[in-house]
Amino acid sequence: MNLRTQILGVGHYLPEKRLTNADLEKMVETNDQWIVERTGIRERRIAPPEHATSDLATIAATRALSSAGVSPQDLDMIILATASGDHIMPAPACLVQARIGATNCVAFDLSAACSGFVFAASVADKYIKSGTHKRILVIGAETLSRIVNWKDRETCILFGDGAGAAVLGPAQTDSKSEILSEFLLADGTLSDLLTNRAGGSRLPLTHDLLDQGAHLVTMKGRDIFKNAVRTMSKCASHCLEKASMTLDDVHWIIPHQANQRIIEAVAKQMDIPREKIIMNLERTGNTSAASVPVALSEALENKIIKRGDVILITVFGAGLTSGALLLRY
Ligand code: ACO
Repeated sequence: MNLRTQILGVGHYLPEKRLTNADLEKMVETNDQWIVERTGIRERRIAPPEHATSDLATIAATRALSSAGVSPQDLDMIILATASGDHIMPAPACLVQARIGATNCVAFDLSAACSGFVFAASVADKYIKSGTHKRILVIGAETLSRIVNWKDRETCILFGDGAGAAVLGPAQTDSKSEILSEFLLADGTLSDLLTNRAGGSRLPLTHDLLDQGAHLVTMKGRDIFKNAVRTMSKCASHCLEKASMTLDDVHWIIPHQANQRIIEAVAKQMDIPREKIIMNLERTGNTSAASVPVALSEALENKIIKRGDVILITVFGAGLTSGALLLRY
Protein backbone atom coordinates (compact mmCIF):
# COMPACT_ATOMS: atom_id res chain seq x y z
CA MET A 1 0.00 0.00 0.00
CA ASN A 2 1.32 3.47 -0.91
CA LEU A 3 1.42 5.61 2.21
CA ARG A 4 0.77 9.36 1.89
CA THR A 5 1.50 12.12 4.42
CA GLN A 6 -0.93 14.81 5.55
CA ILE A 7 -0.82 17.72 7.96
CA LEU A 8 -3.05 16.84 10.92
CA GLY A 9 -2.89 20.21 12.69
CA VAL A 10 -0.87 23.40 13.03
CA GLY A 11 -0.23 26.06 15.68
CA HIS A 12 1.91 29.12 16.19
CA TYR A 13 3.09 31.57 18.80
CA LEU A 14 4.30 35.15 18.46
CA PRO A 15 5.65 36.99 21.53
CA GLU A 16 3.55 39.95 22.65
CA LYS A 17 6.22 42.63 22.53
CA ARG A 18 6.18 44.59 19.27
CA LEU A 19 9.27 46.42 18.03
CA THR A 20 8.09 49.01 15.50
CA ASN A 21 10.05 50.87 12.85
CA ALA A 22 9.60 53.97 15.01
CA ASP A 23 11.34 52.11 17.88
CA LEU A 24 14.21 51.20 15.53
CA GLU A 25 14.60 54.85 14.53
CA LYS A 26 15.72 55.45 18.12
CA MET A 27 18.28 52.61 17.98
CA VAL A 28 20.03 53.00 14.58
CA GLU A 29 20.12 55.57 11.77
CA THR A 30 17.08 54.48 9.82
CA ASN A 31 13.49 55.52 9.18
CA ASP A 32 10.08 53.95 8.75
CA GLN A 33 9.82 54.97 5.08
CA TRP A 34 13.15 53.32 4.14
CA ILE A 35 12.29 50.09 5.96
CA VAL A 36 8.78 49.85 4.51
CA GLU A 37 9.89 50.68 0.94
CA ARG A 38 12.88 48.28 0.97
CA THR A 39 11.34 45.41 2.95
CA GLY A 40 7.59 45.83 3.59
CA ILE A 41 8.18 45.30 7.33
CA ARG A 42 6.46 47.63 9.85
CA GLU A 43 6.98 45.74 13.10
CA ARG A 44 8.41 42.51 14.47
CA ARG A 45 7.90 40.56 17.73
CA ILE A 46 10.58 40.21 20.40
CA ALA A 47 10.65 37.39 22.98
CA PRO A 48 10.83 38.36 26.67
CA PRO A 49 14.25 37.84 28.34
CA GLU A 50 13.07 34.73 30.20
CA HIS A 51 12.10 32.97 26.96
CA ALA A 52 14.49 31.08 24.67
CA THR A 53 13.72 29.30 21.40
CA SER A 54 12.49 26.09 23.08
CA ASP A 55 9.92 28.09 25.09
CA LEU A 56 8.39 29.62 21.97
CA ALA A 57 8.55 26.22 20.28
CA THR A 58 6.78 24.53 23.21
CA ILE A 59 3.81 26.92 23.01
CA ALA A 60 3.48 26.48 19.22
CA ALA A 61 3.87 22.69 19.60
CA THR A 62 1.15 22.48 22.25
CA ARG A 63 -1.22 24.43 19.99
CA ALA A 64 -0.42 22.24 16.96
CA LEU A 65 -1.00 19.05 18.99
CA SER A 66 -4.31 20.38 20.23
CA SER A 67 -5.42 21.36 16.70
CA ALA A 68 -4.43 17.87 15.46
CA GLY A 69 -6.11 16.10 18.40
CA VAL A 70 -2.86 14.22 19.04
CA SER A 71 -1.50 13.61 22.53
CA PRO A 72 2.25 14.15 23.19
CA GLN A 73 2.60 10.49 24.22
CA ASP A 74 1.50 9.45 20.72
CA LEU A 75 4.35 11.32 19.02
CA ASP A 76 7.07 9.16 17.40
CA MET A 77 9.39 12.01 16.46
CA ILE A 78 10.03 15.72 17.01
CA ILE A 79 12.10 17.68 14.50
CA LEU A 80 12.88 21.26 15.45
CA ALA A 81 14.30 23.56 12.78
CA THR A 82 16.17 26.56 14.15
CA ALA A 83 19.21 28.77 13.70
CA SER A 84 18.96 30.22 17.20
CA GLY A 85 18.79 27.27 19.59
CA ASP A 86 18.89 27.74 23.38
CA HIS A 87 22.40 26.21 23.55
CA ILE A 88 24.90 24.61 21.16
CA MET A 89 23.89 21.44 22.99
CA PRO A 90 21.54 19.94 24.00
CA ALA A 91 19.18 20.26 21.06
CA PRO A 92 16.13 22.41 21.83
CA ALA A 93 14.03 19.61 20.28
CA CYS A 94 14.89 17.52 23.39
CA LEU A 95 13.91 20.41 25.68
CA VAL A 96 10.53 20.66 23.93
CA GLN A 97 10.11 16.89 24.21
CA ALA A 98 10.64 17.06 27.99
CA ARG A 99 8.29 20.05 28.44
CA ILE A 100 5.36 18.59 26.52
CA GLY A 101 5.89 15.10 28.00
CA ALA A 102 6.44 13.30 24.70
CA THR A 103 7.88 10.25 26.40
CA ASN A 104 7.78 7.79 23.48
CA CYS A 105 9.68 9.57 20.77
CA VAL A 106 13.01 10.62 19.35
CA ALA A 107 13.78 14.36 19.13
CA PHE A 108 16.44 16.21 17.17
CA ASP A 109 17.21 19.57 15.56
CA LEU A 110 17.62 20.35 11.89
CA SER A 111 19.85 23.17 10.71
CA ALA A 112 18.85 24.79 7.43
CA ALA A 113 18.25 28.36 8.70
CA CYS A 114 15.16 29.95 7.13
CA SER A 115 14.53 26.87 4.96
CA GLY A 116 14.43 24.69 8.09
CA PHE A 117 10.69 24.08 8.35
CA VAL A 118 10.43 22.84 4.74
CA PHE A 119 13.52 20.64 5.17
CA ALA A 120 12.10 19.21 8.43
CA ALA A 121 8.66 18.57 6.89
CA SER A 122 10.36 16.81 4.01
CA VAL A 123 12.29 14.53 6.41
CA ALA A 124 9.07 13.81 8.34
CA ASP A 125 7.26 13.01 5.09
CA LYS A 126 9.86 10.36 4.21
CA TYR A 127 9.58 8.68 7.65
CA ILE A 128 5.80 8.61 7.44
CA LYS A 129 5.79 7.27 3.88
CA SER A 130 8.24 4.53 4.92
CA GLY A 131 5.68 3.37 7.50
CA THR A 132 8.13 3.44 10.44
CA HIS A 133 6.71 6.59 12.14
CA LYS A 134 3.09 7.71 12.42
CA ARG A 135 2.99 11.00 14.33
CA ILE A 136 5.74 13.56 13.75
CA LEU A 137 5.85 17.05 15.22
CA VAL A 138 7.70 19.50 12.99
CA ILE A 139 8.60 22.87 14.50
CA GLY A 140 10.24 26.04 13.17
CA ALA A 141 11.22 28.34 16.04
CA GLU A 142 13.58 31.27 16.46
CA THR A 143 14.69 33.94 18.89
CA LEU A 144 16.76 35.77 16.30
CA SER A 145 16.64 38.92 18.45
CA ARG A 146 19.41 37.24 20.55
CA ILE A 147 21.83 36.83 17.64
CA VAL A 148 21.08 39.98 15.63
CA ASN A 149 23.52 42.89 15.78
CA TRP A 150 21.31 45.73 17.05
CA LYS A 151 23.93 48.24 15.85
CA ASP A 152 23.84 47.05 12.22
CA ARG A 153 20.98 48.86 10.49
CA GLU A 154 21.08 46.60 7.43
CA THR A 155 20.24 43.44 9.40
CA CYS A 156 18.53 44.46 12.64
CA ILE A 157 15.51 45.90 10.84
CA LEU A 158 14.72 42.55 9.21
CA PHE A 159 14.35 39.91 11.89
CA GLY A 160 11.79 38.91 14.52
CA ASP A 161 11.03 36.10 16.99
CA GLY A 162 8.31 33.44 16.73
CA ALA A 163 7.45 29.77 16.40
CA GLY A 164 5.17 27.61 14.27
CA ALA A 165 4.50 23.89 14.34
CA ALA A 166 2.67 21.16 12.45
CA VAL A 167 1.78 17.56 13.29
CA LEU A 168 2.22 15.24 10.33
CA GLY A 169 0.80 11.73 9.98
CA PRO A 170 -0.37 9.19 7.40
CA ALA A 171 -3.34 10.33 5.28
CA GLN A 172 -6.50 8.24 5.65
CA THR A 173 -7.42 6.31 2.49
CA ASP A 174 -10.39 8.61 1.78
CA SER A 175 -8.51 11.84 2.67
CA LYS A 176 -7.64 14.30 -0.09
CA SER A 177 -5.06 16.04 2.15
CA GLU A 178 -1.49 15.09 1.33
CA ILE A 179 2.02 16.30 0.66
CA LEU A 180 2.22 16.20 -3.14
CA SER A 181 5.89 16.92 -3.76
CA GLU A 182 8.99 18.58 -2.39
CA PHE A 183 12.29 19.84 -3.76
CA LEU A 184 15.33 20.83 -1.69
CA LEU A 185 18.63 22.49 -2.64
CA ALA A 186 21.82 23.72 -0.97
CA ASP A 187 24.79 25.69 -2.27
CA GLY A 188 27.55 25.79 0.34
CA THR A 189 29.81 27.86 -1.94
CA LEU A 190 27.66 30.84 -0.90
CA SER A 191 27.78 30.11 2.83
CA ASP A 192 29.58 33.34 3.72
CA LEU A 193 26.68 35.51 2.51
CA LEU A 194 24.85 35.02 5.79
CA THR A 195 26.68 33.81 8.88
CA ASN A 196 27.57 34.12 12.56
CA ARG A 197 31.37 34.15 12.29
CA ALA A 198 32.26 33.34 15.90
CA GLY A 199 30.90 31.22 18.73
CA GLY A 200 31.26 27.81 17.05
CA SER A 201 34.26 25.49 16.66
CA ARG A 202 35.75 27.60 13.83
CA LEU A 203 36.19 30.67 16.02
CA PRO A 204 35.42 29.87 19.64
CA LEU A 205 34.26 32.94 21.52
CA THR A 206 36.96 35.12 23.09
CA HIS A 207 36.59 38.46 24.87
CA ASP A 208 37.92 40.21 21.74
CA LEU A 209 35.49 38.48 19.38
CA LEU A 210 32.66 39.19 21.75
CA ASP A 211 33.59 42.90 21.86
CA GLN A 212 33.63 42.95 18.04
CA GLY A 213 30.16 41.36 17.94
CA ALA A 214 31.60 38.56 15.79
CA HIS A 215 29.06 36.08 17.19
CA LEU A 216 26.18 38.09 15.68
CA VAL A 217 24.54 37.79 12.24
CA THR A 218 26.37 39.32 9.27
CA MET A 219 24.82 39.42 5.84
CA LYS A 220 25.55 40.48 2.26
CA GLY A 221 22.03 41.69 1.59
CA ARG A 222 22.11 42.34 -2.15
CA ASP A 223 23.67 38.95 -2.98
CA ILE A 224 21.17 37.19 -0.72
CA PHE A 225 18.36 39.06 -2.45
CA LYS A 226 19.40 37.92 -5.95
CA ASN A 227 19.95 34.31 -4.90
CA ALA A 228 16.68 34.22 -3.00
CA VAL A 229 14.66 35.24 -6.05
CA ARG A 230 16.45 32.74 -8.29
CA THR A 231 16.28 29.73 -5.94
CA MET A 232 12.75 30.29 -4.64
CA SER A 233 11.43 30.42 -8.22
CA LYS A 234 13.51 27.40 -9.25
CA CYS A 235 12.41 25.24 -6.29
CA ALA A 236 8.75 26.19 -6.72
CA SER A 237 8.85 25.33 -10.45
CA HIS A 238 10.58 21.97 -9.84
CA CYS A 239 8.06 21.11 -7.13
CA LEU A 240 5.13 21.78 -9.46
CA GLU A 241 6.79 19.77 -12.23
CA LYS A 242 7.35 16.79 -9.89
CA ALA A 243 3.63 16.73 -9.10
CA SER A 244 2.65 17.33 -12.77
CA MET A 245 0.80 20.46 -11.70
CA THR A 246 0.86 24.12 -12.74
CA LEU A 247 0.26 27.37 -10.87
CA ASP A 248 -3.36 27.22 -12.06
CA ASP A 249 -3.83 24.20 -9.75
CA VAL A 250 -2.48 26.15 -6.74
CA HIS A 251 -4.79 28.15 -4.46
CA TRP A 252 -2.13 29.71 -2.21
CA ILE A 253 1.60 30.44 -2.30
CA ILE A 254 3.37 30.80 1.05
CA PRO A 255 6.83 32.23 0.42
CA HIS A 256 9.46 32.63 3.13
CA GLN A 257 8.58 35.96 4.74
CA ALA A 258 11.95 37.68 4.32
CA ASN A 259 11.23 40.78 2.28
CA GLN A 260 8.19 41.96 0.31
CA ARG A 261 10.39 42.96 -2.64
CA ILE A 262 11.91 39.44 -2.84
CA ILE A 263 8.38 37.97 -2.82
CA GLU A 264 7.20 40.42 -5.51
CA ALA A 265 10.23 39.60 -7.67
CA VAL A 266 9.49 35.85 -7.39
CA ALA A 267 5.83 36.54 -8.22
CA LYS A 268 6.85 38.56 -11.29
CA GLN A 269 9.34 35.93 -12.47
CA MET A 270 6.79 33.11 -12.09
CA ASP A 271 3.73 35.14 -13.08
CA ILE A 272 1.95 34.50 -9.76
CA PRO A 273 -1.17 36.62 -9.15
CA ARG A 274 -0.79 38.82 -6.02
CA GLU A 275 -4.08 37.57 -4.56
CA LYS A 276 -2.70 34.02 -4.26
CA ILE A 277 0.23 35.08 -2.07
CA ILE A 278 0.04 34.81 1.72
CA MET A 279 2.12 37.56 3.33
CA ASN A 280 2.34 38.53 7.01
CA LEU A 281 5.89 39.95 7.18
CA GLU A 282 4.53 43.47 7.67
CA ARG A 283 3.65 42.40 11.26
CA THR A 284 6.28 39.73 11.97
CA GLY A 285 9.49 40.60 10.11
CA ASN A 286 11.63 37.65 9.04
CA THR A 287 11.24 34.90 11.64
CA SER A 288 13.49 32.49 9.71
CA ALA A 289 12.43 28.84 10.23
CA ALA A 290 9.21 30.00 11.93
CA SER A 291 8.08 32.18 9.04
CA VAL A 292 6.25 29.58 6.93
CA PRO A 293 4.46 27.65 9.72
CA VAL A 294 3.40 30.94 11.37
CA ALA A 295 2.00 32.25 8.05
CA LEU A 296 0.23 28.90 7.42
CA SER A 297 -1.20 28.75 10.92
CA GLU A 298 -2.44 32.37 10.80
CA ALA A 299 -4.04 31.82 7.38
CA LEU A 300 -5.88 28.77 8.73
CA GLU A 301 -6.93 30.58 11.89
CA ASN A 302 -8.30 33.46 9.77
CA LYS A 303 -10.09 30.92 7.52
CA ILE A 304 -8.21 32.13 4.44
CA ILE A 305 -6.86 28.64 3.71
CA LYS A 306 -9.38 25.79 3.88
CA ARG A 307 -9.16 21.98 3.83
CA GLY A 308 -8.65 20.82 0.24
CA ASP A 309 -6.76 23.97 -0.89
CA VAL A 310 -3.50 23.38 -2.73
CA ILE A 311 -0.57 25.28 -1.17
CA LEU A 312 2.87 25.90 -2.66
CA ILE A 313 5.53 26.83 -0.10
CA THR A 314 8.87 28.19 -1.28
CA VAL A 315 11.80 29.18 0.94
CA PHE A 316 15.48 30.12 1.10
CA GLY A 317 17.96 30.69 3.89
CA ALA A 318 21.55 30.71 5.10
CA GLY A 319 23.66 27.87 3.76
CA LEU A 320 22.52 28.85 1.21
CA THR A 321 19.60 26.48 1.41
CA SER A 322 16.34 26.61 -0.51
CA GLY A 323 13.34 24.41 -1.03
CA ALA A 324 9.68 24.07 -1.90
CA LEU A 325 6.80 21.95 -0.69
CA LEU A 326 3.52 21.38 -2.51
CA LEU A 327 0.57 20.06 -0.53
CA ARG A 328 -3.18 19.73 -0.49
CA TYR A 329 -4.27 20.84 2.96
N1 ACO B 1 17.94 52.43 6.98
C1 ACO B 1 18.33 53.42 6.13
N2 ACO B 1 19.28 53.23 5.18
C2 ACO B 1 19.84 52.01 5.10
C3 ACO B 1 19.48 50.95 5.97
C4 ACO B 1 18.50 51.21 6.94
N3 ACO B 1 18.06 50.27 7.80
N4 ACO B 1 20.21 49.85 5.64
C5 ACO B 1 20.99 50.21 4.61
N5 ACO B 1 20.78 51.50 4.29
C6 ACO B 1 21.43 52.29 3.23
C7 ACO B 1 22.74 51.70 2.79
O1 ACO B 1 23.79 52.10 3.62
C8 ACO B 1 22.87 52.26 1.39
O2 ACO B 1 23.34 53.59 1.48
P1 ACO B 1 24.36 54.16 0.35
O3 ACO B 1 23.59 54.13 -0.94
O4 ACO B 1 24.64 55.54 0.87
O5 ACO B 1 25.54 53.25 0.36
C9 ACO B 1 21.43 52.33 0.88
O6 ACO B 1 20.60 52.28 2.07
C10 ACO B 1 21.06 51.17 -0.03
O7 ACO B 1 21.54 49.98 0.55
P2 ACO B 1 21.37 48.61 -0.19
O8 ACO B 1 22.09 47.56 0.58
O9 ACO B 1 21.66 48.73 -1.65
O10 ACO B 1 19.79 48.40 -0.02
P3 ACO B 1 18.90 47.29 -0.64
O11 ACO B 1 17.89 47.90 -1.52
O12 ACO B 1 19.70 46.14 -1.19
O13 ACO B 1 18.13 46.77 0.64
C11 ACO B 1 18.13 44.94 2.15
C12 ACO B 1 18.85 46.19 1.71
C13 ACO B 1 16.75 45.30 2.64
C14 ACO B 1 18.92 44.29 3.27
C15 ACO B 1 18.02 43.98 0.93
O14 ACO B 1 19.27 43.80 0.31
C16 ACO B 1 17.49 42.62 1.33
O15 ACO B 1 16.37 42.49 1.77
N6 ACO B 1 18.27 41.56 1.14
C17 ACO B 1 17.89 40.22 1.54
C18 ACO B 1 18.01 40.11 3.01
C19 ACO B 1 17.36 38.88 3.55
O16 ACO B 1 16.29 38.51 3.17
N7 ACO B 1 18.08 38.26 4.48
C20 ACO B 1 17.66 37.11 5.15
C21 ACO B 1 17.68 35.97 4.22
S1 ACO B 1 17.96 34.39 4.84
C22 ACO B 1 17.11 34.27 6.17
O17 ACO B 1 15.97 34.56 6.08
C23 ACO B 1 17.83 33.95 7.45
